[in-house]
Amino acid sequence: MRILLLGSGGREHALAWKINQSVWANPLYIAPGNAGTAQCGKNVLLDITDFDAIGNFCLSEKIEMVIVGPEEPLVKGLYDYFKSNEGLQKIYFIGPSKNGAQLEGSKAFAKAFMQRHKVPTAKYREFDASSFEEGVHYVKEHPLPVVLKADGLAAGKGVIICQTSVEAVSEFELMLQKAKFGEASRKVVVEEFLEGIELSVFVLTDGKNYLLLPEAKDYKRIGEGDTGLNTGGMGAVSPVPFASPPFMQKVERKIIKPTIDGLHKEEIDYKGFLFFGLINVNGEPYVIEYNCRLGDPETEVVIPRLETDLVGLFVAATQQELDTVKLTVDEKSAATVMAVSHGYPGIYEKGFEIRGLKKADNKNFFIFHSGTKQDGGRILTNGGRVLCVTSYGKNIKGAVANSLAILEKIDFDGMYYRSDIGYEFK
Ligand code: AMP
Ligand code: GLY
Repeated sequence: MRILLLGSGGREHALAWKINQSVWANPLYIAPGNAGTAQCGKNVLLDITDFDAIGNFCLSEKIEMVIVGPEEPLVKGLYDYFKSNEGLQKIYFIGPSKNGAQLEGSKAFAKAFMQRHKVPTAKYREFDASSFEEGVHYVKEHPLPVVLKADGLAAGKGVIICQTSVEAVSEFELMLQKAKFGEASRKVVVEEFLEGIELSVFVLTDGKNYLLLPEAKDYKRIGEGDTGLNTGGMGAVSPVPFASPPFMQKVERKIIKPTIDGLHKEEIDYKGFLFFGLINVNGEPYVIEYNCRLGDPETEVVIPRLETDLVGLFVAATQQELDTVKLTVDEKSAATVMAVSHGYPGIYEKGFEIRGLKKADNKNFFIFHSGTKQDGGRILTNGGRVLCVTSYGKNIKGAVANSLAILEKIDFDGMYYRSDIGYEFK
């Protein structure tokens, strides 16, 4: 099967690595990819939001399956573009319709969807310019802390947790009146703060059935002990010790099943990954957010624990036959630790040579590239998050220690990583 995978991060390297092991995949193209994905297939220079360019490439290379890594092309309607184009509509497509991607693309859509289908989530109200005054009053009176969320995609920056009413009102005004997040904050969701520990749960769904993938926990803050600025993710572990069978049964019964049934009932086309950002509040799961894709860096621990052929699963998903297949999962723990550029998540430089890289397809650890590029015989840093090392272990502590030992041998100017990933599970 001729496959095109869209994206360029560590998530896509992990997907490409797994797809490349499938007997079905030949050839595998990754657009635009990075120096790591180039070891698993052929990188092609395509803008992943240029639908015509993607469509033309699929036609000229006779692509039979498209898999979308990041949310942006999905939220912009790439699925619908394929389905409305005669030459492209037969291509197997992994990723939801524009409507389905609204679960991530619009917080207000997601909250209303959860309300319709009785999925547990924080209480909320939504406001826009026409309800601004009412919103100010609501925010002022809201118990603290209060959470403000820009409705649309805001590069992971659109959520503000406010500790004081003064701050909350000021942020609310900035979002709605000064377009702090541009178009994304034309609407604002105001919700109650939930106290608990977060985890990421993923399914692959065909819009009717779903397969539950291994759960994971990511570490978003730049500093050890979960301090400092938010990042795209500094590491992840899987499994998550507190995700016990009874807890996960609750997650399926109260959250996953009603969500998938809701998509089905509302006739929303959804054949792809769905990511449930959950919080465990005294043993009860609540949805913090939906994403219409896999997480990064969670994918770098989830995919290495999957034993089942991924391309076979994708085919079953496109045929709405996921009820006929089974997943097998490696019982071992996996941990990934992300190496980032000096200055990230603020301003950083790129183009430094990465030294000490080992072959990525070792049996016990994998080096997944996030922001790298090939420069002749050298591999250079090309982003804030540069690469992550995933290792297996008997438990999380062991897996993290293995990744840290590999990272000791890798080096680039200004390299930084957290050495406390998984700290609460030691
Ligand atoms: P999001 O962009 O929706 O993932 O939100 C970013 C982060 O903000 C989440 O990972 C949580 O840590 C935090 N967050 C969002 N909503 C809430 C909430 N209602 N209560 C507590 N924390 C929240
Ligand atoms: N690691 C969280 C995300 O991918 O959104």
